[in-house]
Amino acid sequence: MRILILGSGAREHAIVKSLLSEDESHEVFVAPGNAGIARETPVVDIDPLDPVAVADFAVERAVELVVVGPEAPLIAGVADPLRERGIAVFGPGKAAAQLEGSKAFAKRIMDEAGVPTGRAVRAATLAEAEAALDEYGAPYVVKADGLAAGKGVLVTPDRGAALAHATRWLEHGAVLVEEFLDGPEVSLFLLSDGHEVLPLSPAQDYKRLLDGDAGPNTGGMGAYSPLPWLPGTFVDEVVETIALPTVRRLEAEQTPFIGLLYCGLVVTASGVKVIEFNARFGDPETQVVLARLTTPLSRLMLAAATGGLAGLPRPEFASEVAVTVVLASEGYPEKPITGRPLAGLDAAEAVPGVWVDHAATEVGTLPDDGLHGSWTAESLIATGGRVLSVVALGSDFAEARERAYDAIGKIHLEGGQYRTDIAARVAR
Ligand code: AMP
Ligand code: GLY
Repeated sequence: MRILILGSGAREHAIVKSLLSEDESHEVFVAPGNAGIARETPVVDIDPLDPVAVADFAVERAVELVVVGPEAPLIAGVADPLRERGIAVFGPGKAAAQLEGSKAFAKRIMDEAGVPTGRAVRAATLAEAEAALDEYGAPYVVKADGLAAGKGVLVTPDRGAALAHATRWLEHGAVLVEEFLDGPEVSLFLLSDGHEVLPLSPAQDYKRLLDGDAGPNTGGMGAYSPLPWLPGTFVDEVVETIALPTVRRLEAEQTPFIGLLYCGLVVTASGVKVIEFNARFGDPETQVVLARLTTPLSRLMLAAATGGLAGLPRPEFASEVAVTVVLASEGYPEKPITGRPLAGLDAAEAVPGVWVDHAATEVGTLPDDGLHGSWTAESLIATGGRVLSVVALGSDFAEARERAYDAIGKIHLEGGQYRTDIAARVAR
């Protein structure tokens, strides 16, 4: 199949690897990709936010499937003009992508579909926000209503900090004040063709920057899959009580959700509840979920994009477990320092069961300042906050963790940061 993937992160690299590992050979293009992706498949310099450029390329190259990786192009509505030109797209149109783009929209859909979630109030003024904070009590949860790249959410026991966060984000629009949901978090991805859904394997993401879940929220610092502590009925429960009602509600509103429904869930004492929906694969969870997927991903995504999930068996997964640890630049998430050389990736990938999914990497030319020792003129450079994901498979979590940390220890990035406790609780 000829497939075009939009995006440039480790999630997209993981998707590429999955597609290229299938028995059937595919021609895979990525726009714009990164240095790691470019080593494996052609990258094209097209802005994923430009629907005309994307559609022109897809038509010219007879692309049979476009996969939209990140949320920004989905929320901007890039999928719609592609579909209008007859191209199969894995990714919802602008209307259904509001499930991720607007927390207020997501809450309305959940209310109407009877999907379990925390109580929430949309506040347009500080007085409204304050009343809601006092109604729900501590810990306080305040969210910007819109895309804020992970910075819009504050969970805090400090009422003053909650009010300050509300004040700050009220300048940009409404805020949502939510009831705190207590329990372990789970990310479950489901393929959706607008009517039917098929679940992938659950994963857990580590959202905070530092060990022990300290520090600020990030895009995600690591993940593992599967989750051995979940009850066997978990996936069926999410399909029946959360994913299907949501997808059917959007279908009834004539805004079908076609693509990847990311359910961000909390297992509370009173059942599984939704914290958030996303309209695309999660990063870094995708790196561990696809690492274990044995059903061809291309077939699943094409079936979802063309209304063909009905009657397909559930996707299958290897019995091995997967762990991923994210390497981030110094200063991430507030102010990442970029442009620094990156080395040791070959040594990392020489560890058994390990590979590296690139995120913010470029092949660049380093200044000849004599400081870089054996660096060749053309070197790998870190160009963003989350730089790469080290992924390790193992027969159990102790083995996968050991491999992942052995490998990431071989990678050199000045000021690079990573958590040391990813999957520690399941390895014991
Ligand atoms: P979100 O961007 O909505 O996923 O929020 C980011 C993170 O904040 C989540 O992964 C949770 O760890 C935390 N969080 C958000 N909403 C709640 C909530 N209602 N109760 C508890 N924790 C929450
Ligand atoms: N890992 C969280 C996300 O992709 O939104």
